[in-house]
Amino acid sequence: MDDLIRIKNLKKNFPVQKNFLDLLFAGAKQSYVHAVDDISFEIKKGEVLGLAGESGSGKSTTGRLLLRLLEPTDGTIEYDGEDITNKPYKEMRSYREKMQVVFQDPNSSLSPRMKVGDAIGHPLKIHKKLSTVQRKEEVLSLMEKVGLTPADFLYNKYPHQLSGGQSQRVVLARALITNPEFVVADEPIAMADVSVRALILELMKDLKKEFDLTYLFITHDLSTAKYLCDRIAIMYLGQIVEIGSKEELFNNPHHPYTKALLSAVPVPDPTQRRTEEIPRGEIPSAINPPAGCHFHPRCRYATPECSASRPPLKNIGGTQYSACILE
Ligand SMILES: Nc1ncnc2c1ncn2[C@@H]1O[C@H](COP(=O)(O)OP(=O)(O)O)[C@@H](O)[C@H]1O
Ligand SMILES: [Mg+2]
Repeated sequence: MDDLIRIKNLKKNFPVQKNFLDLLFAGAKQSYVHAVDDISFEIKKGEVLGLAGESGSGKSTTGRLLLRLLEPTDGTIEYDGEDITNKPYKEMRSYREKMQVVFQDPNSSLSPRMKVGDAIGHPLKIHKKLSTVQRKEEVLSLMEKVGLTPADFLYNKYPHQLSGGQSQRVVLARALITNPEFVVADEPIAMADVSVRALILELMKDLKKEFDLTYLFITHDLSTAKYLCDRIAIMYLGQIVEIGSKEELFNNPHHPYTKALLSAVPVPDPTQRRTEEIPRGEIPSAINPPAGCHFHPRCRYATPECSASRPPLKNIGGTQYSACILE
């Protein structure tokens, strides 16, 4: 299978705003949040890659970098074999059509004054020359496919007249109207009611098939990743600590952080013992991340070696890679 996305040594630093006291000390050094700290991976055509990790680990920043909604500090992004890292804005236009994003909060990504049909059809106005009638036909047909029915009726509704599940369907439809190849879904069900989460996930699975999509599926919750993803990358403080197929990661997690995240996934059988506990302490700051393996202060297996240098991702069999020095 060909790679659709390939990123190499990608980094994003955000300058930290200085406060008054810092300014008093002339020459105080500018500090940075290392939101994405040298990560590399690829996403194959037709694949769903999950990106999982606690809040603040750099998942959304990674998604935005892939779509060139943020400029990387360093590293490269390839789309379908083409280096798009430095493509000028004008040349990015054709890529914007192929790459779409779905954010977690449908209400903040929909304009309250735009009717459902207009919101979904809006990207068509920008990307395709269609008559008003053609545009409406395309929108109605897509609305049927994402379960916004009766489409005629909902076409003229405003976002506040929709349920949470319907709003997320509108956001999905708007992302798909340009017939994209690649969709970054950034915690698309995190804000949805528990009752509609499964439905939205199922819909995303169906749409993937129907539209031949490739997804980067961002989530803090591994149980949803298990349902949708082919492979999963585990992110911690800006770095990928483990990556592998869903089966490899769930059946044989290697990195202690992956194990800890998995232990937080509810098990259906209450008699089954949990072997790992949720890691001690808070996620440290990405401004001054711990030296060596960023996870070592929270890791129960940490040795002095772990704080000496950053362990690289190493193959531990099959398609599984882990950035832990433990055997
Ligand atoms: N625009 C920004 N300016 C400064 N810091 C940011 C910005 N966006 C994200 N960050 C910081 O980068 C880190 C990673 O954030 P994010 O990518 O949103 O993580 P996640 O999506 O995993 O929760 C966090 O420490 C966050 O505070
Ligand atoms: Mg996020």
